[in-house]
Amino acid sequence: MNFKRSDFPSDFVFGAATAAYQIEGHAHGGAGPTHWDTFAATPGNVINAEDGAMACDHYHRYPQDLDLLQDAGMDAYRFSTSWARVLPEGRGTVNQEGLDYYDRLVDGMLERGLKPFQTLYHWEMPSALADLGGWANRDVAQWFGDFTEIITDRIGDRVHAIATINEPWCVAFLSHFLGHHAPGMRDLRATARAMHHVNLAHGEAMLRLRAKNMQNCGVVLNFDYPAPLDDTPEALSGVDLQDAIFNRWFIEAMTKGTYPERVLEGFGAHMPANWQDDMATIQQPLDWLGVNYYTRNLMKHDPNAPWPGLSAQPGDLATTQMGWEIYPDGLHHFLTRLARDYVGQTPLYVTENGMAWAETGENGALSHPERVAYASDHIQATHRAIADGANVKGFFYWSLLDNYEWAFGYEKRFGIIHVDFDTLERTPKASYHALKAALAQ
Ligand code: FCB
Repeated sequence: MNFKRSDFPSDFVFGAATAAYQIEGHAHGGAGPTHWDTFAATPGNVINAEDGAMACDHYHRYPQDLDLLQDAGMDAYRFSTSWARVLPEGRGTVNQEGLDYYDRLVDGMLERGLKPFQTLYHWEMPSALADLGGWANRDVAQWFGDFTEIITDRIGDRVHAIATINEPWCVAFLSHFLGHHAPGMRDLRATARAMHHVNLAHGEAMLRLRAKNMQNCGVVLNFDYPAPLDDTPEALSGVDLQDAIFNRWFIEAMTKGTYPERVLEGFGAHMPANWQDDMATIQQPLDWLGVNYYTRNLMKHDPNAPWPGLSAQPGDLATTQMGWEIYPDGLHHFLTRLARDYVGQTPLYVTENGMAWAETGENGALSHPERVAYASDHIQATHRAIADGANVKGFFYWSLLDNYEWAFGYEKRFGIIHVDFDTLERTPKASYHALKAALAQ
């Protein structure tokens, strides 16, 4: 790594991130079915129709995983609490086993000096609520608010920070318009509704958390750097529209109470009635903002195609195992831009950044330079953003473990720790050792 811990302010937090459905093993401990289980069981959606039933078995092996975080010299662990594990039907009867598990998990972090950074929703909508329309149903805001209260009553006294929702763009657009994630819809009307309701659910959860005097409440948004495919007006228009849908829709609503015009035009009459009346609920003060960043895309807009008429493709930079271009300057761009245009000096955390790579050799542990360089260059970009005035307070690598990479099943490996999915054995990779060495300096 071309950085050391002492390059950063003394209160800067280094950690690694995971999400419940991707690692826990959803079959354990009385969790209810989610829309990811059925999406995965439907042929053609997920590579090999794999699901999160066993995943990394973190549910049973979390002590070992927390030990590995501690041994690396990490300060914090970003994890999520599964809605369907706590409320198998999404509402109503509480699964005490699920609450007990999160209780043990948080205590395990505290025993090891790790700050718990909780995410309330990282994509596992309970099936019973998906049956009612899930994110397309306005009631989701109240259902999510109720879940927020139940889990907070149990672990809220010990978590260091709480994020409401992970990556609303993926929850709404990727899942209801592009159809790549559960529930796998491709419907403009459902998309318009989900895009609004996910913001409303964020606002409602913030209100419920405030009512319980919770501190350090925020949200995790993802940002993708749109660059023009060429120097035509169509390419510039594509950049602006992609930026509006992906990068501005959520942060603008949450911090300014408005939506970008070009997106509203596209959604037209499909926006929920009287959506304007919800903007005050959505615009809640944030204690911190989580930024997930991975890549850039080259954009083009076809004005004659049905809205949005966008095409995106990688350029000629080096790519990861996902085919995503590696572009660390994009992270610097968003950190400084978010500070300048939206959140001022509100603390920013890089809550996800990392690469999929197929390290080969014995247990994948051979020393391959690509992941080390990726992390190093993005941590450097974060450092430059701080120097340029962004109040960045932490960096979380995605991910601690190789895990269930959604529609890609277990094929794409993001971990600094290799997981053998037959034996579930963990083996730290070269990037784990490099991060540990940098954090010790
Ligand atoms: C993000 C997700 C995370 C993981 C990474 C690679 O979009 O939040 O769960 O899948 O991408």
